[in-house]
Amino acid sequence: MDNIVASAPGKVILFGEHAVVYGKPALALAIDRRFRCQVSHSEEIYLDGKIFEPNKHPYTYFILSRYWPQRGLDIELDSDIPSGSGLGSSAALCVSLNAALMALRGEEGEGLCAKRSFDAELGVQGSASPLDTSVSTHGHGISINLPNGRHLWDIQHEDRRWSVGHIDVPEMTLVVGYTGVHAPTGPLVAKVRRYYDHSAFAREIIDEIESVTIEGEAAIRAQDMVRLGSLMTQNHKLLSILGVSGRELDRLVDASLMYSYGAKLTGAGGGGSMIALTDRPDDVCEAIKLHGGTPFVVHTEQPGVTVQKKKRL
Ligand code: MEV
Repeated sequence: MDNIVASAPGKVILFGEHAVVYGKPALALAIDRRFRCQVSHSEEIYLDGKIFEPNKHPYTYFILSRYWPQRGLDIELDSDIPSGSGLGSSAALCVSLNAALMALRGEEGEGLCAKRSFDAELGVQGSASPLDTSVSTHGHGISINLPNGRHLWDIQHEDRRWSVGHIDVPEMTLVVGYTGVHAPTGPLVAKVRRYYDHSAFAREIIDEIESVTIEGEAAIRAQDMVRLGSLMTQNHKLLSILGVSGRELDRLVDASLMYSYGAKLTGAGGGGSMIALTDRPDDVCEAIKLHGGTPFVVHTEQPGVTVQKKKRL
């Protein structure tokens, strides 16, 4: 019997996290940290060799109940994206599991995999955008609701519509600084939603993030690293005003700025990770270490989800 192995990348967000939940534009890049999911037929559902416990694994449960109901499956998961790190671990789990199940069911299509994976994030978190799941599916760089990307697919939920496009990204060196603080996305998205629903000021900040994102996309196209970095730092300040940064994140951003074009938190915030755009990666890594973070250089221009069928011996 066949084993299916699917692998999907994590991500960094250059611009637009949180604002994208409200249909605003955003830009994200796939990185060279991946989530792997291996599945094969079985009598019962097993996860990593143990009987599956649905309440411990909400994303997996959501996907299995929709696309593999009442059936057994042997699932093995393996990841080098720390969970709750802001680097897209839950999205990459959803994408790799959906892609593996699609292969078992004889289904195809990047757009279908991205949509199903978004549904899982939305179902589990209550509020989400298709940013993380789309970049993990497609890889490389993606834009949301920006006119210049090559159009990939549209995703709609209630009155929100997200047009997903491929963007070409110039070569750039990004250093990630992981705070070590586990920060699940759902509660942070809910916190911003409460603020957004009740405060005109919060809605203005979201509009400002939109303007910075539009300018950021132009800076990428112009390959203007100085402008790009300064817009990233501006985006970080706006996210801090929204209340999703934190002491650890601000410390790592400030420490990196001396050797960077710019730096910002990436993902939902509250902990998790920040990124710095730099041509002095060693100095930035040292500064992040000195200030209590775990640094690593990430490489962009990574492929999206891949699926392999392996014959069992
Ligand atoms: C999390 O990586 C990005 C958020 O904008 C949530 C989402 O888009 O689903 C905070």
